[in-house]
Amino acid sequence: MANEDLFKKVISHAKEYGYIFASSEIYDGLSAVYDYAQNGVELKKNIREYWWRSMVFTHQNIVGIDAAILMHPKTWKASGHVDAFNDPLIDNKDSKKRYRADVLIEDYCEKLNIKAKKEITKAKKRFGESFNEEEFVTTNPRVVNYISKQKEILERMARSLEAEDLADVKLLIEELGIADPLTGSKNWTDVKQFNLMFGTKLGASAETAMDLYLRPETAQGIFVNFLNVQKTGRMKIPFGIAQTGKAFRNEIVARQFIFRMREFEQMEMQYFVKPGEEMKWYEYWKETRLKWHMSLGLGAENYRFHDHEKMAHYANAATDIEFNFPFGFKELEGIHSRTDFDLKAHEKHSGKKLQFFDHETNKNYTPYVVETSIGLDRMFLAVFSNSLKTEELEDGSSRVVLKLPSILAPIKAAVFPLVKKDGLQEIAKEIIEDLQWEYNVIYDEKDAVGRRYRRQDAVGTPFCITVDHQTKEDQTVTIRHRDTMQQERIAISEISGKIRSSISYKEWLS
Ligand code: GAP
Repeated sequence: MANEDLFKKVISHAKEYGYIFASSEIYDGLSAVYDYAQNGVELKKNIREYWWRSMVFTHQNIVGIDAAILMHPKTWKASGHVDAFNDPLIDNKDSKKRYRADVLIEDYCEKLNIKAKKEITKAKKRFGESFNEEEFVTTNPRVVNYISKQKEILERMARSLEAEDLADVKLLIEELGIADPLTGSKNWTDVKQFNLMFGTKLGASAETAMDLYLRPETAQGIFVNFLNVQKTGRMKIPFGIAQTGKAFRNEIVARQFIFRMREFEQMEMQYFVKPGEEMKWYEYWKETRLKWHMSLGLGAENYRFHDHEKMAHYANAATDIEFNFPFGFKELEGIHSRTDFDLKAHEKHSGKKLQFFDHETNKNYTPYVVETSIGLDRMFLAVFSNSLKTEELEDGSSRVVLKLPSILAPIKAAVFPLVKKDGLQEIAKEIIEDLQWEYNVIYDEKDAVGRRYRRQDAVGTPFCITVDHQTKEDQTVTIRHRDTMQQERIAISEISGKIRSSISYKEWLS
């Protein structure tokens, strides 16, 4: 299936099977804002839990907090967001469409990358076993040209953005002949900076109301609480503070479904380390986070690191873990070495010390910070789009199946009576009543069993349990596995253990 078709299918499947709805849909929706439906909320909760356990439960030196969305406005001055949380925007004068100038340039570079990859694939086919990819990439003139051109463009863009030389960013777009992707027009305005924070007000009267921002990242709630947590938790460096919660950004270009939203959720962890040790921990967290992603089995080939040329204003090293979404490789998670920028800035703006007292040396110091930051909604999209498959079956028919990792599936098991008589419904309901304390399970008696299987396949339920006449005789049921469609007969008393062993955090995370 072409990528664009797959993406359309992902969006329609998410709606049809109760995962995601457009926000306030009866009023035609709100751009780049979405609601999670009955199954979506469960999948999202399970992803959050999977992250939380890997961060907080399995690290004795990481604790969690839940800071408020509204923060004192000085927070955002200190963090640099008031002055520097901007995206360079450019408008097309003919189509009146607005774009991020840096994204237009990055998309151009991605096309060069794709061209280089095509050459490599062709050569691989031509040379077979004897193909030496490393040598080919460094010697084939076309590939060398694509790669070096891409590097040159990205470096120039990084330099211009760093120096706030927006005229040069526009010049670059013109030199590369980049056109409006929708209309082909090259009639561009100048590039301008646009602050992404949403403003709001605190207080009832217009005269006394205080201007606030909705937080654009959860991280600052962690920084301002650094000393509270360190002291009350008696934490020793290195230690981490984890948090999940909503963040808000007035994105210029909000396309691609839940990939880029105006209201979204982040899962962030700030790891406070000794100055000078940040690169060691930066490497540690790169590796640890990649392992977390791999543990879900979405395919090693679907991840890659992308080191930043242009750093955020607070970072001395930064990389993205990119995922192969239906629209190509894009950022899923950011790992940043944030230096002591934030703690020092909050010290300066608040006048309060935010330092760690090292009992071994009897000295105070400002820790450095390594941050891992992942969008929960992006992770949802990665898992959901990767799991959606259409399979051809042996009998010539096909099925749509959502092969979600069972630990994340919203519904763990569906229980069916084979027919709606002979006391089978009662037994099925008893099974539900027993399982419901541990798992999200559902009862379904409508339609033929085959159709019920298909419905659960499409929702992503890993197990279907059918109660039939034999159940009355020997207290056994059939359990059908979503991915293999194989069925086995097990005792009712074994069902719970069977489900439990497939969703053990210990097994999945280690
Ligand atoms: N505290 C650092 C920080 O916020 P970021 O790279 O701007 O860094 C971190 O964001 C992660 O948050 C991204 O990797 C992405 O997964 C998610 N994210 C950022 N903007 C988003 C948006 N508009 N919609 C959905 N997710 C977003």
